[in-house]
Formats: sequence, C-alpha cells, structure tokens
Amino acid sequence: MWSSFCHWIQHTPVGTAVGGSDWAFPAIETVHLLGMILLVGSVATFDLRLLGFLMPRQSVSRLAGRLLPGAWVGFSVMAVTGTLLFASDAIRKYGPNPVFPIKMLLIFLAGVNMLIFHSGVYRRVENWDDAPVTPLRAKVAGCCSLLLWTGVITAGRWIGFA
Ligand code: HEM
Repeated sequence: MWSSFCHWIQHTPVGTAVGGSDWAFPAIETVHLLGMILLVGSVATFDLRLLGFLMPRQSVSRLAGRLLPGAWVGFSVMAVTGTLLFASDAIRKYGPNPVFPIKMLLIFLAGVNMLIFHSGVYRRVENWDDAPVTPLRAKVAGCCSLLLWTGVITAGRWIGFA
C-alpha cells in the first residue's frame, strides 16, 4: 500500500520533473524553509506569550488573530513543498526513511495539541485575555507546542542523513 503510493507519486509528472531537475529540489527546499519561518515564527511568538515570556500586556485573543493566519499560510506552503520534495525520490529515499514517519507523527501531535488548546482553555479566553499570567493549561499547551515544533524541525533536518 505505502510502496504503491511511493511508486505512484514519484511517477506523477511533477515527481518526475522535480526528481529529474538539478535546481528544482534546492529551490523548493528553500521555499519549504521560508514556510517554516512563517509557521514556526508565528506559533512560537504565540507560545511565548502563553508562557509569559513575551508581550505580557498584549491581549491573547488579539495576538492569536494577528499571528495564526500567517501560521496557516506557512503550514500550507510546507505541506505543498514537502510533498514535492517527497515525490522527487519517494521510492528509494523518503518512503523507506525511518525518520519520515516520526516527522509526520510529530506534526499530527502538534495539531492535536492545538485542537485541545482551542476546544479547552481558549474557549474561556475572555476570563484571562489581558492577564500577564495565563492559566496552567495554556502554559502546558504553549510548552508542548514549542517542544513538538522543535521536534519537527529536528526530524526534518535528520531525514537527509537517515
Ligand atoms: C506537511 C508535510 C511535510 C512534508 C511532506 C515534508 C517533507 C520534507 C522532505 C521530503 C524534506 C527533504 C529532506 C531531505 O532530503 O533533506 C523536508 C525537509 C525539511 N523539512 Fe519538511 N515536510 C513537511 C512539513 C514540515 C514542517 C511543518 C517543518 C517544520 C516546522 C519541516 C521542516 C523541515 C526541515 C527543517 C527540513 C530540512 C531542510 C534542509 O535540510 O535544508 N517540514 N521536508
């Protein structure tokens, strides 16, 4: 199943084009990393506000409104460019790579952490919006988010050497 998916994606016109070009992979990887700056820059700024290290006087909901759209744009850019990088060498390099599923699992867990935060403590944000010290559950979410995205970046770098 996984191996037929890898064969299919590598033999799509886009997979063949990226895999057969000298410049496409580094160019796409550069855009992948620009997406990472947008995603992790926005998310980490928000997480540091939850933890009380940044902008203690800034309202949490206003900061979320300003930062989270950028995080979604960054994530979309990463998902598209990451898929193109994967397609360039899916059969030999990325499909069998032991670090690739670890990276996907960490991205999934970062999403679960965000869902728990938004459907839990953030639903009553009006009670602590302007407080410099946020509730413990918000701090735990911010801490988990920083750790998980650091893990995603580490796994991303590691894939090329595994
Ligand atoms: C959502 C789907 C994603 C896919 C399918 C994907 C896939 C890939 C692939 C195939 C590579 C090339 C590995 C190599 O040969 O060096 C890569 C590199 C990388 N990715 Fe992703 N990625 C995704 C999202 C992310 C996210 C969300 C982050 C970080 C927040 C990230 C961080 C990195 C880093 C740091 C590298 C290494 C770049 C380098 O060595 O210069 N990726 N990714």
